[in-house]
Formats: sequence, structure tokens, C-alpha cells
Amino acid sequence: MDTEPEVSLRTQITMHILGVNAYHGDSSAALLSEGQLVTAIEEERLNRIKHWAGLPVQAIQSCLEGVDVRDVGHVAISRDPKAHLGRKLLRVLTQPFLWKQAQSRVANSVEVGRFGDRLREAGLAFAPGTQFHCVEHHRAHLASAFFVSPFEEAAVVSVDGFGDFSSVMWGVGRDNQFDVRGSVRFPHSLGVFYSAFTQFLGFPKYGDEYKMMGLSAFGNPQRFLSKVREVVQTKDGQVRLDLDYFIHHNHGWAMTWESGEPVMGRVFSQKMTEVFGTPRAARSELTERDRDLAAAVQAVLEENYFSLLNYVAKQTRQSTVCLAGGVALNCAANGYIFERTPFRDVYIQPAAHDAGTSFGAALYVQHQMLKQPRNFVMRHACFGPSHDESAILSDLQAVGCTFRRYEEDELVRRTAEAIAAGKIVGWFQGRMEFGPRALGGRSILADPRSSEMKEVLNLRIKYREPFRPFCPSILAEETGNWFETDYPSPFMVQAYKIKPARRSQVPAVTHNDGTGRLQTVDREVSPLYWKLIDQFRRITGVPILINTSFNENEPIVHLPAQAIDCFLRTQMDVLAIGPYLLDKADNLHLSEKKRVFAEV
Ligand SMILES: [Fe+2]
Repeated sequence: MDTEPEVSLRTQITMHILGVNAYHGDSSAALLSEGQLVTAIEEERLNRIKHWAGLPVQAIQSCLEGVDVRDVGHVAISRDPKAHLGRKLLRVLTQPFLWKQAQSRVANSVEVGRFGDRLREAGLAFAPGTQFHCVEHHRAHLASAFFVSPFEEAAVVSVDGFGDFSSVMWGVGRDNQFDVRGSVRFPHSLGVFYSAFTQFLGFPKYGDEYKMMGLSAFGNPQRFLSKVREVVQTKDGQVRLDLDYFIHHNHGWAMTWESGEPVMGRVFSQKMTEVFGTPRAARSELTERDRDLAAAVQAVLEENYFSLLNYVAKQTRQSTVCLAGGVALNCAANGYIFERTPFRDVYIQPAAHDAGTSFGAALYVQHQMLKQPRNFVMRHACFGPSHDESAILSDLQAVGCTFRRYEEDELVRRTAEAIAAGKIVGWFQGRMEFGPRALGGRSILADPRSSEMKEVLNLRIKYREPFRPFCPSILAEETGNWFETDYPSPFMVQAYKIKPARRSQVPAVTHNDGTGRLQTVDREVSPLYWKLIDQFRRITGVPILINTSFNENEPIVHLPAQAIDCFLRTQMDVLAIGPYLLDKADNLHLSEKKRVFAEV
């Protein structure tokens, strides 16, 4: 069993705790006030560079808007350069060819260790007594999963590529504490297993794993199953890679972010080519081999994921689990948790990837270190900035848009009618979501009944690979009428099988394997979005909308001006922004100007 890091702390309750994920992909900031999550935002939304990995100064400033920075008692970063330092040093000392790479890792660790100085240099005038904490990456993940869950007690598991020399950590959460019961250390990692094949199949960018997951539904896993099983095995909670297929353990883990966007170096070896053939070139045509290999990799990931979860269930004797880490965003796998493990309740918060470690680190300080009681449950994802009506109006007028203002019921009625008439609608309402999914705050919405809608969305706005699914938002109380699993999935991180008789009614959100990566929308939690879907149900009899993120090959829109710009330059039909409704037909002259400009 791991021991808790020793800490020396002021024990008084502090008003604000700032959490930061920095010098790591999807950098972000979050603010806790009196134990409640108040604000959380990813830096990429502000600086418009996807997955940005530096120090999230703008996100921190956004979190601290309206807050006296001198009232921030603690600042926590979700990295700990001292974690497993002995193991790291031993590895470098015994493998001299890693020395050059170790220099950049040391430089990175120094930056992490000095993040308090860097924040002060950025102009943040913390009080002299403000305490700065380095929280081990997976402990921040575990805190982000358990402390915001609705459960008093649960197993808690973090699974990702790597963070602070570990790739898996698990334990048991009770009340305001968790105990770590086990971990998996470098170089073994389910996340690296999945990333290696994602690269091999021609998806080279940081965060492209969800593309291979989408592709996997189109292949036959049997063809490569036995060969892929040789690459990774999990037994008694320990993941073991066959290292002959990888280079990260002997050539180093090449992760750079000079321009801000993280770039991961190749992690698979020549043996991968010898066994599975030539790697697919990015953007080349997909073959039967590629689809079958993706299917086998997803199947093997699931075997290992469930082996790990079953071991944790047995060891901890818990029937409830909270999950975090990049692998926990594999919604296809998560859809089978009830079928393939003894867990009967599951909670996965919407920023289970590294962005969520910002509030995880803050919660770790609040509960694990300061031992304060829990008083917060994360029931929605809307912890980002919002923009009042006057700001939206000003942006609309600045562009010269033609629009009309409506009271809420009328706005909802007109928007639902437009969607039912086959129009594509931009929906910009309330606070921005935290995490990779648009969940009814910054969404593009469309009619799921149309078999052509997926292609229309791709041709007109999203330009995504055709094998990637679009996701359904469903009224929570209707879940059991349309899906074979009737359990809340408020954050689009679980894919459930759509009832076979229903699939032809919603072809645009039925993936090739008959599943839908759903968002269950609760009337109490998201009243406006619920009302819109319910209005669509009244018109069509279907309580489901297509919900995809409000963007066009860019981070999700953050400002009203960005939403207006995206509406005008793409072939979106309608924009509902705050109380205002815009029809493309009334704004064609602006739209044409945008497109001519874009082409130039
Ligand atoms: Fe992570």
C-alpha cells in the first residue's frame, strides 16, 4: 500500500483553493470556494490552441475574476516532480542513452516545482502566506473522480497514459478521504497500448484515440485478436506490455509542446510493423486491415480494462466505482461496466482526462490534506464563463447581424421547430462546459431521425472522418424506452446499446455497433436544454437530439463573437444565442463575406 505524502499545513479553513493542470496536455484551472467547485476552464478555449500544454495563465485569471487573489489560501498543481524520484533516477542512471532526454524532463520538473514563482511572475499577487502544493498526478485524478461523486464510499480508479511515472492507481474512497491500494508503474500502461495503435493506424495527433475508438465499430476483431493479446496483458491489477512492441521504455517518452500544442513522439517499435504490416499513413484511405485491427485493439483494451476493474472490485469489496484518467473516457468500454464487472453504480465526471486534475488537485488539498467535509457533487459540466444578454447583443450588432429577441418559451419553440424541419442549429446558452464534450451549453443540434443528417453535418460543418459517430442527448426519464441500459450518463462518457426496434427511428445517432454515446438530460439539472428536447419530443415523438460540439476544427467556441463567426462561416442554418435567434437566410450577405475571406 502506498503511503500518503507528508505535509505540513496551516489548518484553518481557507476561502479559496486554486487548482492547476500545467506543463501537461489539456492544461486548465479550477477554483474551489468553501469546498464548492465554482469555476473550471481549459486554457485551449481561451488561447484557441487545442490541448494546450503550458502554464494556463488565462484560465487562472478567468477563475479569479471577481475574487481577491489574496483570499486564495492554497494553490495546487496536479504534478509532483518528487513522486517516485528514486525510481526515475535509477532508470536514467542505468540507461545512459536516456540522459539527453532526461535533461528536458528535469527542466520540465523544475518548471512544475517553481509554478508558484511562475504565477507570481505572471502578475498574480498571492498573499505571502499562500501555500503551494504539488499533488501526484494520479492522486489528483482519484480526487477528481471520488470527491465530486454522489457516493459516500466507492472504489476509485485512475487509468491513463502516464503521469508522475504511474499509469494506473486505485483505492477506496470513504467520506472525505481515500486510501491508495495499488498502482501500475512505468513503462507499463493501457493508455500507451491504445496510443501506440492509434499512431500505427494513422491518427498521429495528441488526443486522437477517440478516432480509433469510433473506427473500431466497423471491423471484425477476430482477425487480429490473438496477436493483439500478445501486446498487453493484465493480471491481478498489473498491466504488462510486451515491450518489444514499444520504444518509450528505451528511447524515452518524447512529449513536446514548444508551440503549446502537445506532440507525442512515436511509441511503437519495428516489431509492430513486422507483425501487423505497414503503418497507415495519416489521411490515406482506410482498409479492411485498419478497421479489423482497430476492432481487435478496442476488444483487447476492454479485456484488460475489465480485468483491472474486476481485480479492484474483488480487492476493495466495493460495488460502486468512480473512474478518471484518459482511458476512462473510452465510452465504448464504459458501456459494458455493468455487464462485465460486479460494479452496480458508476460515476465518471465530464473532465475525466487530464484537464480534470486541476479541480482534482484542489479537492485533494481541501479534503485529503485539510480534512474538510465534502459538500459538493458535480451534477453538470457548466463551470466555464457565461456572457450576459448585453454582451451578446453588442457582439451581434458589431457584426451587423439580423436577429430577433424572444422570451424563453418562444425561443425554445422556434428552435425545436427548426430542428424538426431538418435545420442545423447552433445553441449557445449559459455557462461553457468543462471537459471535451459539449453538453447543451456550446452545442450544435440537429434531428436524429434523418439517415442523411450525419453526412449533412460532416459536409456542411464538422468535416470529420465519416466513421465517427454523432451523439444523442435524451430526456433522462426516457432513457429506458430507447436504450438497453437505463442508468444516468449525464456526461457522454458511456455508450449504451440502442434498443433494436428503436434504431431505425434515430439512425443519425446509432453507431455501426448499435450503440449511442448518450447524454441523459435531467430536468432539474439542465432545465433549458431539457425544455428544448422536450419541445422536440412534443413535435416529433422522439425525445432525442443530435448534440455535437459548437466548433469547426478548433477548440469549442468560448465567446459570443466566436459563435457568431462560426455560424456565419459554416453552413449552419440557425443560431440561438442567449435570447436571440438568427436565421442564416437573413444573414446570407454576412455569411458570403466570411466565406470569401476564408477562401482568400
Ligand atoms: Fe492523466
